[in-house]
Amino acid sequence: MSRLVSGIRRPRQRILGSEFAGEVEAAGPAVTRFGAGDRVFGNTGLAFGCHAEFTCVPEAARVAPMPEGMGFEETAAATDGALNALWCLRLAGPLKGRRVLVYGASGAIGTAAVQVAKVFGAKVTAVCGPKGVEAVTAVGADRVIDYTKEDFTSDRERYFSVFDAVGKESFAHCRGVIEPGGTYLPTGGPRNLLLGFWTSRFGDRTVMFKLPPRYTQQDVVLIKELMEAGSYRPVIDRVYPIEDVVEAARYVEAQQKIGNVVLAVSDG
Ligand SMILES: NC(=O)c1ccc[n+]([C@@H]2O[C@H](COP(=O)([O-])OP(=O)(O)OC[C@H]3O[C@@H](n4cnc5c(N)ncnc54)[C@H](OP(=O)(O)O)[C@@H]3O)[C@@H](O)[C@H]2O)c1
Repeated sequence: MSRLVSGIRRPRQRILGSEFAGEVEAAGPAVTRFGAGDRVFGNTGLAFGCHAEFTCVPEAARVAPMPEGMGFEETAAATDGALNALWCLRLAGPLKGRRVLVYGASGAIGTAAVQVAKVFGAKVTAVCGPKGVEAVTAVGADRVIDYTKEDFTSDRERYFSVFDAVGKESFAHCRGVIEPGGTYLPTGGPRNLLLGFWTSRFGDRTVMFKLPPRYTQQDVVLIKELMEAGSYRPVIDRVYPIEDVVEAARYVEAQQKIGNVVLAVSDG
C-alpha cells in the first residue's frame, strides 16, 4: 500500500527522511513566524526530504520552535513516533484510568506510545523483547512483559485498548484480552481497514484504524510542550554521521532498533 503513495518501483522522492531539527537558514518574504537563525523542529511526512543538510517547509507545515534546553539530535527524533502514537491513541477515546497495552513497545512508535498513553492518564503495560526492557521501563511503563518469557494473551489482565505499535500482532490474537467496548489499535495492514469497517458494525470490540493519519502543527507544538514538561523524551538508539546514511538505513531496516536512529549533520 505504501508503494502507491511513495512510488511503485522506487521512491518518488529520492531524499528520504521525514523528521528534522535545525536552524532556519532563510525564510520567504511572507513568512512571519520564523526567521533566519531560529531553532526549529518538525515533520514533513510523505513529502520526505529530511535526510539532508537542508530542507524546505511551508510556514503552516508541521514545524515549531525547538523545545527549550534540548539539542538537535534528540529533538530530530521527537515527532514521527509521537505523532503516530497521538493519532492512534486518540482514536481510542479518553484513556484516563484505562488499562492500555502497547505491543512492540521498544520501537520508535512504541517508546512514544508508552509515554503518550501515560500523558493521557492510562495505566500502561508494555510488551517487548529482552533488549528493550530497560528502555521501555525507563520511559515509564507501569508493567513490562518480555514476550520471550510470557505471552500476554494467556494473562488474566484485560485492557481497554491494545496498541500494536510494530505491526506484528493481529486483532484475532489479541481479542481475548480486550475488554468489551474496548479497541484494537494497529499501525498498518490492509486487513485492519476491513476489520475496522466490520467491527464498527458487529461485535463489541472495535478495530480503530484510519488512513491517512492527520498530523497537525498543533501536535508538534504539543510535543514541544510535553518535552519541556519532562513528560516525553524520544529514545535514541544510535547517531550516525549523515555520510553513513546507508549503514544507518540498513540498521533501521533490520527492525531491531530501540527507539530511534538519528543522522547528524556536522557544522564542519
Ligand atoms: N500508519 C502509519 O502512519 C505509520 C507510520 C509510521 C510507521 N508505521 C509502521 O509502524 C511500525 C513500527 O514502526 P517503528 O519505526 O516504530 O518500528 P521500529 O522502531 O523499527 O521497531 C523496532 C522494534 O520492534 C521490535 N520488534 C521487532 N519485531 C517484533 C515482534 N515480532 N514483536 C514485538 N516487537 C518486535 C524490535 O525489538 P525486538 O526484536 O527485541 O522485539 C525493535 O525494538 C512499522 O511497521 C511501520 O511500517 C506506520
